[in-house]
Amino acid sequence: MWLISLSLPLLPTIIIFVYFRYHVKVASLCRRALAWAQSLMRGRVCVKDVHAFVFTNCTHGKADSVLEMFHRYAETHHTLSVGQLTGDMLDEVIKRTHPLMVLELGTHCGYSTVRMLRLLPPGGRVITVETDSVTADLGEEIIMVAGFKHAQFQVLPCSSAEAISSLHSYLEADQSPSEGIDLVLMDHDPQQYLQDLLLLEREELLCPSGCTVLLIKRTRRDDECREILDYVRKEENCYSIRTEFPQMMEIVYRKDVQRREG
Ligand SMILES: C[S@@+](CC[C@H](N)C(=O)[O-])C[C@H]1O[C@@H](n2cnc3c(N)ncnc32)[C@H](O)[C@@H]1O
Repeated sequence: MWLISLSLPLLPTIIIFVYFRYHVKVASLCRRALAWAQSLMRGRVCVKDVHAFVFTNCTHGKADSVLEMFHRYAETHHTLSVGQLTGDMLDEVIKRTHPLMVLELGTHCGYSTVRMLRLLPPGGRVITVETDSVTADLGEEIIMVAGFKHAQFQVLPCSSAEAISSLHSYLEADQSPSEGIDLVLMDHDPQQYLQDLLLLEREELLCPSGCTVLLIKRTRRDDECREILDYVRKEENCYSIRTEFPQMMEIVYRKDVQRREG
């Protein structure tokens, strides 16, 4: 007690010392804590509202009705789903590439998962990853409401890095005819895109004969995907950029062993 009373008068000096000595670190820590709290609040509040709206108003068992309710909700509310325009681009890629094994990073409420699942060829599967467990549960429910079964999809409630590190066991359990992942949709955190791509490469999870990597861009900022694009451009033996839209980029990975050895 006496120690506390003795140190109380020193408190302003200590605060001033800590501020001047560590103000850059403290400010950065505060900014990150604030951004984290905001994103958590936004994610949770939004996902519960959108889930309730879609669940109540759609025709259960009909994927198109589920998508329609997402669109209707987005007319009056801010949502994190990719939405109609990027969704149409996504449809075009799925129809063109016919992927059997899809990895989605960033499930949110399941909009893009439903969009892809409805166009997959027979036997096609989506593994979708969502770091927030409440959001993962709500997203999973919407995907089931859209009429899809667990034989067609799996929601992994963990971070992208954790999911990628354990993905081999899921692919083996799946007995997928594919040589690896045929399509990766990254719509989680642009700061993670490059790290996750490198991890996918290291774990040899990308189908060597061709894997499409889609990067969703949420802002118009040029630097949003710069790190991953710099890397892809540098590794031109394995990667090529197929399309570059403001909302989405399509990258093709191909491990052409002969060309690399030659
Ligand atoms: C923009 S939303 C995804 C929207 C979804 N693709 C759609 O169109 O319906 C991004 C989601 O990624 C999740 N997320 C963020 N960082 C993540 C990470 N490192 N691993 C897995 N999920 C992550 C967030 O919780 C959020 O729900």
